Amino acid sequence: MKDYSRLIDRKKIPSHIAIIMDGNGRWAKKKSLPRSEGHRRGSEIIEPLMDAALDMGIRAVSLYAFSTENWVRPKPEIIGLWKLLDYFFNEKIVSIKAKGIRVRHSGFLDRLPASSQRTIRNAIDTTRENKKLTLNFCLNYGGRQDIVQAVNGWIDGRGRNERVSARDIEKRLLTAGLPEVDLLIRTGGECRISNFLIWQIAYSELVFMDVLWPDFRPNHLYKAVYEFQLRERRFGGI
Ligand code: IPE
Ligand code: IPE
Ligand code: MG
Repeated sequence: MKDYSRLIDRKKIPSHIAIIMDGNGRWAKKKSLPRSEGHRRGSEIIEPLMDAALDMGIRAVSLYAFSTENWVRPKPEIIGLWKLLDYFFNEKIVSIKAKGIRVRHSGFLDRLPASSQRTIRNAIDTTRENKKLTLNFCLNYGGRQDIVQAVNGWIDGRGRNERVSARDIEKRLLTAGLPEVDLLIRTGGECRISNFLIWQIAYSELVFMDVLWPDFRPNHLYKAVYEFQLRERRFGGI
């Protein structure tokens, strides 16, 4: 594969990249390993990708790590994923912080085990002064549920005869404050959104890649950005 880090235009970098990290299970199956090993290897590649994101000057990366639909999976797999989250932050939070990365999350934390809630809150807390790059973990996230909670939030503060606007919803979404999603990447070869940021990707460029998440390398990220830069964004214009 070409070295895409040398081919990208450093003046046309997407502000916010959203990634559907898919294919851990298939990666493990191909290697006759337990699915949990696929998830573990998948978590190991996150930090090198953040280095590439920092190198490009990307402002925010949203990672889809657990969907509101993933609760239907076998319980041991789910428990393993929450354990992996704790392990990941225990291992990496010091270096994430040192790199100037700010952690945040989008999702419904209340259903997570108490220890994982603490882990994520602690990661957010200790990195809150960082400004280089926001790493947004989407845990127990669902796009439809996001819109519903935003509308309900608006209803709670609604004045008499007031009608909801797109702006009202936008500012209450779980991603409020982050830049527009310019680019959405899905690995694993599946071409669907699986209830990720359905409102936020209205005008995103979509890149589907036929590489399983644990095999995803910084050069794949540069390649996706390269592809993004070849696209002509028209936003309804001509
Ligand atoms: C994505 O990989 C990670 C999560 C959804 C947590 P999968 O576990 O969906 O892997 P495949 O799609 O079965 O290969
Ligand atoms: C999407 O992947 C969710 C995450 C990557 C966290 P899934 O593997 O759950 O999606 P489907 O079931 O193939 O649509
Ligand atoms: Mg999957």
